[in-house]
Amino acid sequence: MAAIRDIRNKAIQKLDQTGNETSGLDVDLLLEAATGLTPLDFILEPDRQIGPKQKADFQNLLERRLKREPISQILGKKDFWTLTFKVSRHCLTPRPDSETLIEAALKSIPDKKKTLKILDLGTGSGCLILSLLSELPHSLGTAVDISDKALDLAKENALRLGFQERCRFILSDWVQALPPGEKFDIILCNPPYIAEEEAETLAPDVQGYEPHMALFAKDNGMEEYEKLGKILPGLMTDGGHAFLEIGHEQGLRAVNIFKNGGAKNIRIIQDLAGRDRCIALDF
Ligand SMILES: C[S@@+](CC[C@H](N)C(=O)[O-])C[C@H]1O[C@@H](n2cnc3c(N)ncnc32)[C@H](O)[C@@H]1O
Repeated sequence: MAAIRDIRNKAIQKLDQTGNETSGLDVDLLLEAATGLTPLDFILEPDRQIGPKQKADFQNLLERRLKREPISQILGKKDFWTLTFKVSRHCLTPRPDSETLIEAALKSIPDKKKTLKILDLGTGSGCLILSLLSELPHSLGTAVDISDKALDLAKENALRLGFQERCRFILSDWVQALPPGEKFDIILCNPPYIAEEEAETLAPDVQGYEPHMALFAKDNGMEEYEKLGKILPGLMTDGGHAFLEIGHEQGLRAVNIFKNGGAKNIRIIQDLAGRDRCIALDF
């Protein structure tokens, strides 16, 4: 038997030595997963003893974190918007910054009870489309990804969260496999946009564990926007809106790509940290 306080302090020290900047939080999440106790219990009952099985479970989880595996992948889940998504190394871990797209999309829809057709290009875990569907009870979704493993995960999330009747999933290189001529009222897209040259600067948690297909794009990160700039106008209904995530230094280059595509209004929207995060197009 060992006291929680001792296990916790030792683990934080070890994680700190790997350059981890969120050691305390990470240890609490892993201890919670291994013991079923909450971080409040760790504070209120630091002398509480945990048994050998729970201690071994915790050590296994800690070993994975010491190798820089992201907490979301160790726990197999990540909260996004108001939902919890299953995640794995086959999808991008949903980022809070991407909630900027959901907020912007919701602002553009005055009647939430309308039946809208929504397309999510590069769905990953399904976090964008399923979060938006959770706010629009009569809308219908189409989720596309080029990765069959990511798409399986998105389907599983739709089933777990109860959206399977309102969302279809299509394995496709962007829109190649979509029925020709189909149009959408809302398009969401968080494409890969990190310049390949920046790979070395990424945290080991990201570079070593997240799918490179979800992260990197050629042409200084702009290649997929170039492709989407040609595709999007033909997919939108009159009065439709598209919301694409951008890297915080890509706003002007993205505007230049989309300005010749028939959008009536193009805006750059900031995330909660005040950085450019989304390009919004009104058709
Ligand atoms: C940045 S991740 C976004 C995942 C998710 N939408 C999110 O916001 O967390 C980009 C996603 O696009 C997918 N993708 C990359 N290239 C694609 C392509 N040519 N066609 C369809 N999907 C693609 C990747 O597999 C990945 O799931």
